[in-house]
Amino acid sequence: SQNIYVLGIESSCDDTAASVIYNGKILSNVIASQKIHEEYGGVVPELASRAHQQNIVPVVHNALKKAGITKEELNAIAFTRGPGLMGSLLVGTSFAKSLAYGLNIPLIDVNHMQGHILAHYIEEEGFEKPPFPFLAMTISGGHTQIVKVNHYFDMEVIGETIDDAVGEAFDKSGKILGLGYPAGPEIDKRAKLGNPKAFQFTKPKVDGLNFSFSGLKTGILYFVQRETKKNPKFVEENLNDICASIQYTIIVILVDKLKKASKDTGIKHIAIGGGVSANSGIRQALKDGEQKFGWTTYVPKFEYTTDNAAMIAIVGYLKYLEGYSTEQNVMASARLKI
Ligand code: KG4
Ligand code: ZN
Repeated sequence: SQNIYVLGIESSCDDTAASVIYNGKILSNVIASQKIHEEYGGVVPELASRAHQQNIVPVVHNALKKAGITKEELNAIAFTRGPGLMGSLLVGTSFAKSLAYGLNIPLIDVNHMQGHILAHYIEEEGFEKPPFPFLAMTISGGHTQIVKVNHYFDMEVIGETIDDAVGEAFDKSGKILGLGYPAGPEIDKRAKLGNPKAFQFTKPKVDGLNFSFSGLKTGILYFVQRETKKNPKFVEENLNDICASIQYTIIVILVDKLKKASKDTGIKHIAIGGGVSANSGIRQALKDGEQKFGWTTYVPKFEYTTDNAAMIAIVGYLKYLEGYSTEQNVMASARLKI
């Protein structure tokens, strides 16, 4: 039997993260989140890369310490090559290269989106691994995709957003309502107390399996402006109902496309990943899909849904088992495709 330790490093957006995986099991999963962006209402790339530079060594150090191993025991270093913010990616990429070079062990590049999907293959009690082929919907502040996953490294994007990501739809709607950043969790909380049918918002008409969320955001802005003119306290008095109605609309958009994807491909195993999969409404909608459409659904453990390095470590581990490693001259790629 093999005893493989892989260090995963993630720095594509505003979280600096490192994780040690041992034979498919996560030993440590350390994240330094950057609070600085809250006051700007969104991620500021320049500030993100600076914070990564500050955090990367302490985060990796903690990940090794929590795993109870020394860096000399590592078999490979995996890192996020893209997609993401270039300045942020460069920090993790350069650090991973140096460490792999210093330790003279394989360097393994990982696609962040594959990470979100393959996080389902982390060994975790109480969590089933989806069998191939399955459909994966990655929903976060940076991404919205439906991917047909034929095998670990055989994936096809069959639908994606043509403008905003679904997390942005939550966050930008929240901004209009005067909520803090990121607004997704707050909208979710308030939605539970409101009536999802109180207000109707126009759903976008987008061909095939693609998504669009920018029109919804504009629709909400005009709606709020119009109603506030009539009643200056409109938002305040109806906040929970507005949140419930926005969340309901977003979920209908997502589930409609999943239904179509499942019908088109004949695949009924459906997995989600990314920060928005924390949303209680989407989780419930997936559960309902099991009864209504005969789906089997997979939602990863919470800590593996938002950006993290465990998902990078599992991909690194799977690639290592296939004998894969990358050259030291590999470059970070902001728009890396699956
Ligand atoms: O995956 P993630 O941590 O970072 C990336 O964007 O890659 O996702 C963050 C996004 C934010 O837009 C946030 O508002 C959203 O996930 N989010 C939620 C919930 N929790 C986080 N959206 C809706 N409901 C939630 N419970
Ligand atoms: Zn992500």
